Amino acid sequence: IAKYVTPLIVPPVMPQTPGQDGALDRYTIGVRRFRQQILPPGHPPTVVWGYGATHDPRTFSSPGFTIEAVAGRPVRVRWANELVDQDGRYLPHLLPVDPTLHWANPPGGPTGRDGRPHLDATPGRYRGPVPLVTHLHGGHSADHSDGFPEAWYLPAARNLPTGYAAEGSWYAQFAAAYAAAHGGSWPPGSAVFHYGNDQRAATMWYHDHALGITRLNTYAGLAGFYLLRGGPSDLPPGVLPGPAPTAGDGGRRGYREIPIVVQDRSFTADGALFYPGGRAYFDRFSGPYAPRGDIPPIWNPEFFGAAMMVNGRTWPYLEVEPHRFRFRILNGSNGRVLNLKIVTDPLARRPARAALPFWHIGSEGGFLPAPVRLGHVLLAPAERADVIVDFTGVRPGTDLYLINEGPDGAYKGDPHAAPADPATTGQVMKFAVRDSRGPDRSVPPDRLTLPSFPHLGTENATRRVALVERNSAVVRGAGPAAVLLGTLDEDHRPMPMMWSDRLTETPAVGATEIWEIHNFTPDAHPIHIHEIAFQVADRRGFDHGTRPPEPWERGYKDTVIAYPHQITRVKAYFDRPGLFVWHCHLLEHEDNEMMRPYRIGP
Ligand code: C2O
Ligand code: CU
Repeated sequence: IAKYVTPLIVPPVMPQTPGQDGALDRYTIGVRRFRQQILPPGHPPTVVWGYGATHDPRTFSSPGFTIEAVAGRPVRVRWANELVDQDGRYLPHLLPVDPTLHWANPPGGPTGRDGRPHLDATPGRYRGPVPLVTHLHGGHSADHSDGFPEAWYLPAARNLPTGYAAEGSWYAQFAAAYAAAHGGSWPPGSAVFHYGNDQRAATMWYHDHALGITRLNTYAGLAGFYLLRGGPSDLPPGVLPGPAPTAGDGGRRGYREIPIVVQDRSFTADGALFYPGGRAYFDRFSGPYAPRGDIPPIWNPEFFGAAMMVNGRTWPYLEVEPHRFRFRILNGSNGRVLNLKIVTDPLARRPARAALPFWHIGSEGGFLPAPVRLGHVLLAPAERADVIVDFTGVRPGTDLYLINEGPDGAYKGDPHAAPADPATTGQVMKFAVRDSRGPDRSVPPDRLTLPSFPHLGTENATRRVALVERNSAVVRGAGPAAVLLGTLDEDHRPMPMMWSDRLTETPAVGATEIWEIHNFTPDAHPIHIHEIAFQVADRRGFDHGTRPPEPWERGYKDTVIAYPHQITRVKAYFDRPGLFVWHCHLLEHEDNEMMRPYRIGP
């Protein structure tokens, strides 16, 4: 795959539903299947799934268009599952589903004699309908609008029963809760979610969250940005590099505020998305699906792609002027931890020398206390970095490269160990510096004052939680059959729990809690807690030593790297009652039990 032949796409703004006004921003956003030129010209287009405004088929793309939200002004989205063909029949999944996981398991899929999901002769041949449910990652949402993984729904397809909406289902329960709060019902094949935007200005993103197939739905293309602006936690326009894209201008050039989602992908020779169906894994470790096998046969422990995709294109380039740019970077990969740098020679020996620094100004929950100048950006899946890169003084005609020194495999916590292949996944995109077309009136990052914000008060409680690997009881040396979350007993021994086990994390409404995340596994895991924004208190070794949060972790976050054999301590204020989840954001882990429900309030 040739690099740097296609320009970076700036995701345009998601259009609102026409003919609406009033106190809300309203959207109807569908999920459809279509083809997109992800690979450079000359390669076939790739079949993907993507979000788009249902009234305008041209808005369907992957990543989805950006939802621009304003602090204090609610957004209401009807999220529609439109994975149907021209005859209105449901479409099957693009990728190999593992029906042996605890997953959504909708009616209409293949079922064995005992009523349990069954695998037909070929692993990965689940041909049933696709359950979807969208989560606004970073949103301070009511539980009915948060995208609870069990509250998935199927398309309103001709050839499907509507059993998933049956009384008592999570979907029906949340639909009723939504109706009680906001009125109205959820049209078949969709859910209507309300986002209050009563939180700090921040870089959020929306993505699929259906139980046990989030890794596949997101990999197929279901992700997009949600940018919340305005209010006292934001800076006035003009201070930071801009402008940002506005509605209707189609993502053309001239922006100096650009969201960037980096995702690793693999492709087959005919341009299709490739996600391993686990055949090799299946044969090697588990044997045919059988009652005695305890390693999910199609699931993979983590996915690492062979190509780097930025905003839906592989290895793009961006023409920049010798000015300051603001990049809102999201690691949207399933399992890959990124360690980004800007260099002059993309093939330089690793670790490479940074040619330009990043000025970190924000993390997941908004601005940092002050800009932090660093040569790299370390981002685990779902983490975001709001950075300024100052190209002022770079000679027009210069090419600079965004490279990745994170590993082509599991991240253990050493950012310099096993850097990604410099020829492929060790490169991300190119900045081609061009002549200036106008003055730069943004404030230089070293003179920038960021909005101040309140820190959290003293905690009312400290809660211990654990990350634990569960090895196969059947196949020796096969590696983990799952990674689990859990609690700790009195003697500080981990007590692993499954998704369906009883609730153990139940902070009171109004409580400020410290969660001590004890990582008993040999790998780093990005841990995400829904609903709240937390502050990183510190990290403690199992035996000794306390490290303060990294300089770029001093604001609010919603996802944090929990390093092996360390206790990562985060503090949060739990203010909204409801049922939410916390989980590892390595999507393969999340899909196979590394997720737990938690409840705020009684
Ligand atoms: Cu980004 Cu629970 O999700
Ligand atoms: Cu994990």
